[in-house]
Amino acid sequence: MSAHWKNGGNRDTFAAFICDEASLDTLRPVVVDMGWQPEKCNKGGLRNAIQSLSIAASPNILLVDLSESGDPLNDINALAEVCEPGTVVIAVGQVNDVRLYRDLIGSGIHDYLLKPLSAGQIRDTLVQAQAIFAAPKSHDAGVAKRHISTAVVGTRGGCGASTLATSLAWLFSTEHKLPTALLDLDVHFGTGALALDLEPGRGLTDAIENPSRIDGLFIERAMIRANDHLAILSAEAPISSPLMTDGSAFIQLEEEFRHAFEMTMIDLPRNMLINFPHLLADVNVVVLSTEMTLAGARDAIRLLSWLKANAGHARAIVVANKVHAGIAEISKSDFEASIERKINFTVPYDIKAAANAAKLGQTFAEANRGAKSAQAIRDVAQAVLGSVDAEGATVIDKAGTGRKSLLGKFDLKKMMPSKGKAAATAQ
Ligand SMILES: Nc1ncnc2c1ncn2[C@@H]1O[C@H](COP(=O)(O)OP(=O)(O)OP(=O)(O)O)[C@@H](O)[C@H]1O
Ligand SMILES: [Mg+2]
Repeated sequence: MSAHWKNGGNRDTFAAFICDEASLDTLRPVVVDMGWQPEKCNKGGLRNAIQSLSIAASPNILLVDLSESGDPLNDINALAEVCEPGTVVIAVGQVNDVRLYRDLIGSGIHDYLLKPLSAGQIRDTLVQAQAIFAAPKSHDAGVAKRHISTAVVGTRGGCGASTLATSLAWLFSTEHKLPTALLDLDVHFGTGALALDLEPGRGLTDAIENPSRIDGLFIERAMIRANDHLAILSAEAPISSPLMTDGSAFIQLEEEFRHAFEMTMIDLPRNMLINFPHLLADVNVVVLSTEMTLAGARDAIRLLSWLKANAGHARAIVVANKVHAGIAEISKSDFEASIERKINFTVPYDIKAAANAAKLGQTFAEANRGAKSAQAIRDVAQAVLGSVDAEGATVIDKAGTGRKSLLGKFDLKKMMPSKGKAAATAQ
């Protein structure tokens, strides 16, 4: 039966059937934190779950309360009958019995949580369940394609993050012929579509307004095709309308992209990372774009430290962009000493290339095939492609971790009085 639980399939991200209000009260905020809909936390137990799943699609992750079940093992088997393959099931109960625990795990249940529930315990289990759901299943490895999800984040505004995101997406889709999705999460001011000379359309706006409508068909209809292998989802939301979302649409999109494409490229503005940190839960690579400035160094330190704490599963690649040949506000060696790791790639400041891209309505990499600056971006693309092995596991190298504190002239630790120490010592 365990095979029955683990075969793929994708529907609602999450649903819970819980018997008591106290547990529901603990659960809901965690569910919201995960970017899921709190309405999916239903009052009820195993029986309700069976009833409801016999007529509706199963979620990816199912939390189910066994408290009111007289024969949990038997009922779990009944649940398996109506549950679609692939669902990760977490049981909740009040019986503290190792034998029951073992039997449940043996029958394909992912975990058994003992009441009273604690937020931390639920969070850990759900994060784990999400990872298990996203991981390629060994027995259908032939079917599941490798997927690499990359987020590009800029340390500061205007540091060339979107230039990298659009160029990388273009390179993956043309030179590597990989089906690629570009998700521009700069909802008001995004330049993804502009760089590709396209109209953004309503796709992303519709997705944000109706997250429940997001499925394979929606993706096909709503995304704008840029070339044979590249589709983009972006918006130019009116400046008068604030962003109204709990982030669930974005998570849902990431999930659909995993099935429909081999590469996901997310242009992720810093503020979105702050508001929706769970956007990075399934990301394999984070490309951190920065200029060689004092502020860039400070925020590279802070972002790298944040990534280490919150997205340790992802490989961070540091790209210095718009780097002038002669003088820089901070030299490369001082910059690397400050962030305590190597800059992985350097893209020279190339105003001719930028002008060319603007004139041709092409991405920076496409418009300047022979240029050194575009070649550097090509190298970044290679590094991203090398970040995930054939099994889909992220390769986190320690090579980028630079030498130890040598702060010299730019002692950023002193400039960051409160959390400075911790942040500055992160790799
Ligand atoms: N290597 C480069 N050389 C010269 N100009 C560049 C380079 N990379 C990017 N640019 C230019 O810098 C400007 C800002 O780039 P981009 O929009 O990619 O930055 P960003 O970090 O996404 O900005 P924002 O904070 O607005 O999202 C653009 O006009 C772009 O053409
Ligand atoms: Mg941008």
